Amino acid sequence: MAKYKIAVLPGDGVGNDVMESAMIVLEKVGFDKDAEYIYGDIGWEYWRTEGDPLPERTIELLKKTDACLFGAITSKPKDEAQKELIPELQGKGFVYRSPIVRLRQLFDLYINLRPCKAFPGNPLNYRDDIDLVIFRENTEGLYAGVEFRPVPDAVKKVLSDNSKNMAKFDAVPGDELAISCRIFTKKGCERILRAAFDYAKQNNLKSVTVVEKPNVIRETSGMMVEIARKIAPEYSPVELWETNVDAMAMWLVKNPQDYSVLVASNMFGDIISDLSAQLVGGLGFASSGNIGENYGVFEPTHGSAPKYAGQYKVNPTAMILAARLMLDWLGEKDKANAILNAVSEVIAEGKIRTYDLGGDNSTIQFARAIAEKI
Ligand code: IPM
Ligand code: MG
Repeated sequence: MAKYKIAVLPGDGVGNDVMESAMIVLEKVGFDKDAEYIYGDIGWEYWRTEGDPLPERTIELLKKTDACLFGAITSKPKDEAQKELIPELQGKGFVYRSPIVRLRQLFDLYINLRPCKAFPGNPLNYRDDIDLVIFRENTEGLYAGVEFRPVPDAVKKVLSDNSKNMAKFDAVPGDELAISCRIFTKKGCERILRAAFDYAKQNNLKSVTVVEKPNVIRETSGMMVEIARKIAPEYSPVELWETNVDAMAMWLVKNPQDYSVLVASNMFGDIISDLSAQLVGGLGFASSGNIGENYGVFEPTHGSAPKYAGQYKVNPTAMILAARLMLDWLGEKDKANAILNAVSEVIAEGKIRTYDLGGDNSTIQFARAIAEKI
């Protein structure tokens, strides 16, 4: 029996192109001897024909595996999504929900680990000395799914009973009001902070920067910062730095090389991770690990880029680095490092380049070049 069972969900569009590339590299690194790959259904086709982009059978499949590789999926605005459902499913109350957000919540994958490391030689680098890792809280915050529109009277009443400031919304009719709740729990804050500090300590990194906005969002951001201050001394000599999210955007453009670990709630982490990815070459280089106590889903941060689907044009680095994150998380450190070094070498040489890097090599040629270095 194989040592690991790995669920493989290529998804839509270029998800397939980049997954094929990751498989080339995984084979070369010798992981195929340890792994049984089980392919599963996810994405737009299952929304259209079954009314669910993440069918129950896929969730069951994931439960039987040790980790999952996920490509990318297409999502569309509400009206378009409804129109594309097959006629038999129209008007039956199906609602599109992001499969990746659901997976994060269903499997309690509370860490979204997003390394942003500049590979020297990448012409798209903002600077060559950037090497930071983002720990994004992945299950609560503005993604908790607690939203109201229209706002029920009972909710309005609770608000206005609670504070004079909130009573000003009393006069607004319920259907003219929309509320999305930003929900933090002590447990949620503490576990993402500890994950960030553990990582900094294990890797001898100087600082952990908590990226919030406690001067305005007093309760939620305030709680995150309060817990950070409380636990930080346990991780000495790692320093706790505190930065407001708006200032962080500025500092990341000004001196990104000063930062090593950033930790943020779900939405702030989403935003600063795109900014950070662009500093090291864009989403083609941004890998992401959704990690819980017992399960991990590893994906590129980019989307399905439908216009490039099946053309084998896009840069597969993000997906290959996602596979590398998976190996690292499984404890296959040597194999993980071999992939990292190979990616580094191919980029440093600059002979094989996909279109984003100004070249005309294909996704697969790029993956093969990486495999050859292993
Ligand atoms: C990401 C993406 C997702 C998110 C989308 C696709 C739901 O932007 O992984 O960063 O918002 O988390
Ligand atoms: Mg995002």
